[in-house]
Amino acid sequence: MTHKQTYNIAVLAGDGIGKEVVPAGLAAIEAATKGTGISITLTDLPWGCDYYLSHGRMMDEDGFERAAAFDAIYLGAIGSPKVPDHIAVWDLLLPLRQRFQQYVNLRPMRLLPGLTSPLAHRTSADIDMVCVRENSEGEYSGLGGRIHVGTPYEVAEQTGLFTRHGIERIVRYAFELATKRPRRMLASATKSNALRHAMVLWDEVADGVAKDYPSVEYRKYHVDAIAARMVTNPASLDVIVCSNLFGDVLTDIGSAISGSLGIAPGANINPERTFPSMFEPIHGSAPDIAGKGIANPIGAIWAAAQMMDHLGHRDIHDRILAAVERVVAGGQIRTPDLGGTSKTADVAAAVVSEI
Ligand code: NAI
Ligand code: MG
Repeated sequence: MTHKQTYNIAVLAGDGIGKEVVPAGLAAIEAATKGTGISITLTDLPWGCDYYLSHGRMMDEDGFERAAAFDAIYLGAIGSPKVPDHIAVWDLLLPLRQRFQQYVNLRPMRLLPGLTSPLAHRTSADIDMVCVRENSEGEYSGLGGRIHVGTPYEVAEQTGLFTRHGIERIVRYAFELATKRPRRMLASATKSNALRHAMVLWDEVADGVAKDYPSVEYRKYHVDAIAARMVTNPASLDVIVCSNLFGDVLTDIGSAISGSLGIAPGANINPERTFPSMFEPIHGSAPDIAGKGIANPIGAIWAAAQMMDHLGHRDIHDRILAAVERVVAGGQIRTPDLGGTSKTADVAAAVVSEI
């Protein structure tokens, strides 16, 4: 792939601490691309819950068409105590992931050198996993409905939708990734004992794809068992492939054992590059700490690095991540979630100065 050097990036800072951590990621990109000839044009998309409160919708009517024109989307977080979560999530976040066929959700979980895991005495050698989460169907397909609303007879049905095509492409992506990592291990999170239709199909398709990758050590774990294993023996895990809901839960565990929910990034990837991909920290808008300037921006900065990697600049990704690692390892500059007293802006400035 040849790389053009000018990029149009949509910035969707969103709500709560999304607005606070996104500037940190943008500052890191600016510092890391300085003098490289790469030029980035940023366009703010003012969508989110504030937009909803004044316009009655989460995004512009022609929002998808507008967003489709960008090379990538850099996202903070969506959600506010003033707007029901199912509206915030379903009228903006999940439709972007689905419409743009960002069916891969790639989430590294790594204990950065110098940080102490809540799992005491582990080091950066023990926690280095990456989750490949199915991002377009499964438990978050949106299918279902409610009848007899508000009556004692009310019923809700929530349908998980799993397709052979959807499972096969995500499992294949995960195997490809596993072949590129030193340990070449792939764990598939399943629950075929209890979810006897969808997860049995998941296992059949995964077992079939595994035959194409004899060099990868492939294992299946039930999702509850793998959740426990992430805590008791994280060193035994490398790449994890899983469904939409399982991945949502497992990556909160992975980020938490790496120090905090504020650390892990998530790339919503459309591998065919038919649509823009979207890059965000895995955390939400954190209303409990929003407005205090103390949100940990590492997840947002790491997501910015993932975006540059996706655009073809692995070197810029590495430069940003190395700077984050040096700041973390220095031990002086940490936000309160990591036991420090630094502000979001202090971490951002330290990373920029390391770059
Ligand atoms: P959350 O991730 O916003 O917060 C969970 C806990 O982690 C809170 O105690 C928060 O203070 C802490 N935390 C999160 N990020 C942090 C950071 N960068 N630095 C320091 N501490 C951090 O999840 P919660 O509370 O379940 O959801 C809050 C809102 O965010 C809801 O409206 C939810 O729907 C939305 N949400 C949006 C997401 C997105 O836009 N991708 C993802 C998850 C939740
Ligand atoms: Mg989540």
